[in-house]
Amino acid sequence: MKEFIQSLPKVELHLHIEGTLEPELMLELSQRNGINIPFDSVAEIRDAYNFHNLQSFLDIYFQGANVLINEQDFFDLTWAYLLRCREDNVVHTEIFFDPQAHTERGILFDTVVNGIHRALDKGMTELGITSKLIMCFLRHLDEESAFETLVQAQAHKDKIIGVGLDSTEIGNPASKFERVFKEAIKQGFLTVAHAGEEGPASNISEALDLLNITRIDHGVRCSEDAELVTKLVAERIPLTVCPLSNLKLKVVEHMGQHNIVALLRQGVCVTINSDDPAYFGGYMIDNFLAVNSAHPMNKVEIAQFTFNAIEASFVCQNEQARLRLMTQQYLDLHQ
Ligand code: ADE
Ligand code: ZN
Repeated sequence: MKEFIQSLPKVELHLHIEGTLEPELMLELSQRNGINIPFDSVAEIRDAYNFHNLQSFLDIYFQGANVLINEQDFFDLTWAYLLRCREDNVVHTEIFFDPQAHTERGILFDTVVNGIHRALDKGMTELGITSKLIMCFLRHLDEESAFETLVQAQAHKDKIIGVGLDSTEIGNPASKFERVFKEAIKQGFLTVAHAGEEGPASNISEALDLLNITRIDHGVRCSEDAELVTKLVAERIPLTVCPLSNLKLKVVEHMGQHNIVALLRQGVCVTINSDDPAYFGGYMIDNFLAVNSAHPMNKVEIAQFTFNAIEASFVCQNEQARLRLMTQQYLDLHQ
């Protein structure tokens, strides 16, 4: 089963590019850019990755992002992730970035987007990996800052397909961003939002009702509301679930407690994703293996995660058909 998982074509839909900053690159960029970080070695950095909840992780994540200054840094970060995609047989990826984590420090929006986009372009031509870019609003910041970010995105609409909502869920309800999302939709952006990661199932319903989103990031607490699960199944509303992230941020105590396979078997359009792999100790294959070892699945069930991700992705119907065919051929060959 390990080999089947390793070579299975995969589609990633929940990946924060800032969360792919490996300690080695963090140290290199801190030296290259003369930015002080409170660590002297890779081992010290990894030792600091002991999280007890979402906020304890976010504090370290934003601190790490401080070493990203120049366009080349954003390029290097994204290129390193794409090389990992190739190793894990990720054939399509939809990447989040947090512009405010950088513009708040005086880095230009253009610097961030251009660096990421140049790497994604190269990923397409040299690795054959397709991608989409989604900009997230930081929910701990105010509505005005989100609106300013939306204005900055205007010049890059050709590179950004959608908007999302991340950072501290508790205390920052979806309602705070209702008007920004309405405006983003009016401008033609697709929409997603983190909900029901640390917060209750009602946060998922609220995000669906107020923000008009087409998929939910995380959403694992949906199981607390049977009616909501019925709606997710009936309307094929996808959840981009991140198993190792949930484990590391103590959303679940152990993988055996995770509901992802139960949700799959109930007919929810669940997908497997890595969230912030440099911080949570695993990219896509690691996430698939962790789920399968706690909840053994057959090959059809494992491949269903890829079929779900294709369906939930923002690529056109033709491209979805190409990815489905690739996955079906793989499954047929290995049944
Ligand atoms: N930003 C990066 N990773 C996140 C997560 N798991 N939840 C909320 N915001 C995030
Ligand atoms: Zn996330």
